Amino acid sequence: METPQIPAPLDVPAAIAARRSTKDFNSQGIDPELLQRILDLTTEAPSSWNLQPWRIVVVDDDATKEKLHQACFQQRQLLEAAVTLVFAVDVEAWQQDMAPIIDQAQTVGAWPPSYCESARQAIPGGQNALSKMGRLREYAIKDAMIAATHCVLAATSFGLQSTYMNGWQEEAVKQVIGAAGRDEIAIAVVIVLGYSDQVVSHPGRVPQRNTVFQGRLPEAGS
Ligand SMILES: Cc1cc2nc3c(=O)[nH]c(=O)nc-3n(C[C@H](O)[C@H](O)[C@H](O)COP(=O)(O)O)c2cc1C
Repeated sequence: METPQIPAPLDVPAAIAARRSTKDFNSQGIDPELLQRILDLTTEAPSSWNLQPWRIVVVDDDATKEKLHQACFQQRQLLEAAVTLVFAVDVEAWQQDMAPIIDQAQTVGAWPPSYCESARQAIPGGQNALSKMGRLREYAIKDAMIAATHCVLAATSFGLQSTYMNGWQEEAVKQVIGAAGRDEIAIAVVIVLGYSDQVVSHPGRVPQRNTVFQGRLPEAGS
């Protein structure tokens, strides 16, 4: 059987311009090779200390989609979209994964030996400090959101539609993905991906004078 061709991707500015949050999907599935390409681009995302704490769960079967639909306040795109990606994080990832990551960077020459040596000290020091401040979860979620952004822009570049989703109940989503009761697992975001016949209009943005500033923020209340 002939392998379907992955379309030539849009460039980054074109993908940014083309992306719109989409709720209506048609029944076209995502070619597995294309999905893998998108996942490869997703996990190219940078992360703090290269810790890669994201744990991405791919959901494409109807029974699990229905459970996620319930966990996500019955948002209909969960049922319609071909694939849902749950971007979970392992807040404790640094404890198990640190040594192989540093060793790999050293072996391939990406990090000089002196930097690897300081990373061996600095990562546990920094992560323990974050742990004491109760901020490990926040830092892992920052990394996962960057990966999620890579994912959505990659998917858009190949002609897919998407929606990021915050509308879910964390414990219910964790139960669906097999992480019930695991305190080290948190959910960063849920993303639906698929094809759509809908043309979604740009909903607009507030003026940049409200969101972008030179040098420092204006005084409070001004
Ligand atoms: C982190 C995040 C969470 C979101 N959660 C939801 C959601 O749960 N359900 C939904 O329909 N849209 C959700 N959205 C989509 C936003 O409503 C949408 O991005 C916004 O209106 C701007 O539209 P645009 O994405 O087409 O530019 C979310 C977007 C982001 C970035």
